[in-house]
Amino acid sequence: LTTAATVLALTVTAGAAAAACDDGEIVIKFSHVTNTDKHPKGIAATLLQQRVNEEMNGKACMEVFPNSTLYNDDQVLEAMLQGDVQLAAPSLSKFEKFTKQFRIFDLPFMFKNISAVDAFQTSETGQAMKASMTRRGLLGLEFWHNGMKQFSANKPLETPGDAAGLKFRVQPSDVLVAQMRALGASPQPMAFSEVYGALQTGVVDGQENTWSNIYGQKFFEVQDGITETNHGIIDYLVVTSIDWWDSLPADVRDQLGTILREVTEARNAESTKVNEDAKQAIIAAGGVVRQLTPEQRQDWVDAMKPVWSEFEGDVGTDNIAAAQKINE
Ligand code: LMR
Repeated sequence: LTTAATVLALTVTAGAAAAACDDGEIVIKFSHVTNTDKHPKGIAATLLQQRVNEEMNGKACMEVFPNSTLYNDDQVLEAMLQGDVQLAAPSLSKFEKFTKQFRIFDLPFMFKNISAVDAFQTSETGQAMKASMTRRGLLGLEFWHNGMKQFSANKPLETPGDAAGLKFRVQPSDVLVAQMRALGASPQPMAFSEVYGALQTGVVDGQENTWSNIYGQKFFEVQDGITETNHGIIDYLVVTSIDWWDSLPADVRDQLGTILREVTEARNAESTKVNEDAKQAIIAAGGVVRQLTPEQRQDWVDAMKPVWSEFEGDVGTDNIAAAQKINE
């Protein structure tokens, strides 16, 4: 960056933070990558910001940076460890460098819906996962829901064979790479903010994501259509650095923790509806949504489920059994 550009960038960042923050308040920067409207994470982050700024006025202030304007998910956790950002909510697929425990959430067809994911996360096993990265300086505070993933591509996807030979953007997760290889497709890990351009220019042919992300990023505009596979999930961990969390005065930490828990409960209960609304908005905007018959969907299960065995060692057969029991 030139000096002028650096000064401008610093001024813009400081200006945004200054809008909500008074002298003496603890500044809480929250960086995320999605849009703010009609999106489970965007809505939850905005609500959290509102409540913190109203109820903790004088003690703390929060500034949310959505749409990858501050960091991409591949930078944000390092920035957090440097103390440059205090909260983030990357998808569970983005913690590979820090823990392998979250791989269970990427295994295809592991959870039948978000209620099952919720039940698993609120179990003792799920809650213990929030502390799985403390050795690496990160602490999970709350799980936030997005929804079930769907496949889209630049040609109709009906059978698993339709995906063979295509390039699919995936989040940077070994499980998702293996999942696409199981379909005979070529997985391309890529930052979320680059996916629209990559689909538009044909750098990749397809992608997998939730209705709210497909709508929010307008992927449907540059794809032939979306097939309702519900083959996996995208969920988040609201995460902070232990150093920062421990440095907070106890009353500030308790109040922030309580507000975050209340926002989590309120917004997690709405995530499925937010995604359903996004699906309807895609259809209303002219996007093509394809349904599978139960028999067609079973072919996708048969093609992808074999990847479980590759990752059993990382996620534990007991955890897989617990997740499957919840599905019953
Ligand atoms: C993605 O990279 O596709 C998602 O993790 C983005 C998000 O935060 O939902």
